[in-house]
Amino acid sequence: MEKKIVLLPGDGIGQEVVQSAKLVLDALTEEFQHSFTYETHSIGGTAIDDHGTPLPDETTKACHEADAVLLGAVGGPKWDQNPSHLRPEKGLLGIRKSLGLFANLRPIQGFDNLLHASPLKEEVVKGSDLLIVRELTGGLYFGTPSERRNDGQSVVDTLAYDRSEIERIVEKGFQAAQIRRKHLTSVDKANVLESSKLWREVVEEKKSDYPDVTVDHMLVDATAMKLVTAPTSFDVIVTENMFGDILSDEASVLTGSLGMLPSASVRQDSFGLYEPVHGSAPDIAGQGVANPLAMILSAALMLRHSFHMEKEALLVESAVHNVLNQGYHTADLNIVDGKKVNTEKMTQLIVDFIKSTSTAKSN
Ligand code: IPM
Ligand code: MN
Repeated sequence: MEKKIVLLPGDGIGQEVVQSAKLVLDALTEEFQHSFTYETHSIGGTAIDDHGTPLPDETTKACHEADAVLLGAVGGPKWDQNPSHLRPEKGLLGIRKSLGLFANLRPIQGFDNLLHASPLKEEVVKGSDLLIVRELTGGLYFGTPSERRNDGQSVVDTLAYDRSEIERIVEKGFQAAQIRRKHLTSVDKANVLESSKLWREVVEEKKSDYPDVTVDHMLVDATAMKLVTAPTSFDVIVTENMFGDILSDEASVLTGSLGMLPSASVRQDSFGLYEPVHGSAPDIAGQGVANPLAMILSAALMLRHSFHMEKEALLVESAVHNVLNQGYHTADLNIVDGKKVNTEKMTQLIVDFIKSTSTAKSN
């Protein structure tokens, strides 16, 4: 199969981990005789430095013409003092919006032999397997332009949603639950926010279309608590943009490290942008020690959702499990008696596993 992939390494460790994902994809294309072509474009802080904008037009254009996009990370202290239109994050928000990627899927699954690296007790975290479905192109991130008023002494951010925006993400939540353990938790702040009241109304209306799924509503503060006291009680969480951002970072550490978590940003068709949940980690950038697994697992999500290459996706995922089971880990994972490796070695281990176990041929 031929596919056109745009690589957006971005900033910090984004450069290193995107390179790892490409090496893994190269190994797969050899084994399965696919033909992937790559185009690399700039976004974020590096795009500000090179082109004077966090999202150059040619980047947007290339993404619109691709079959899928792999993105590393954006941001770093170098650009922290920039005015808001010249922030690296503007590039990421801009490309999500421009591509219409309204649903961000963040699966969080404990790896058995990493349980002891979790800050939670093993018996609390064991068996955790949840999916956060985060609304990605609305809410506080995209309200009428945030502004300062009153000589800079007042500020305004707006949390706005149309019913149709809530409907499409809630449907994604129900559909995701249908192919998992059939339980949906809709997270809001309906005891305070008008937007959350409409959100709840929509969930109540939609639930009769999915009679096989059980639903509950949970306030975001209570959810934050339950994620660390009873993470196994969740299956799928659906929530608005900002709540989803916060809860997904919280949930990510259940697995021992933020460096393990992939995400898929999708819309109604099979197109998607795939990126790790972690950021650009400027403190370790350029040292070759970053954990490439979240990016590699994001590439697996791309194979599954955008290219319908289930066999290939499973092979990548089992490579990751296998390498972790052998005790290999990068520096972000606090493992006693493990085999600590750098980015290059971790990537090579995944590639070697793929080459040694793949007996499948393209079909
Ligand atoms: C994420 C990140 C982004 C977000 C930032 C970098 C704008 O934190 O993908 O979770 O808030 O969406
Ligand atoms: Mn975030």
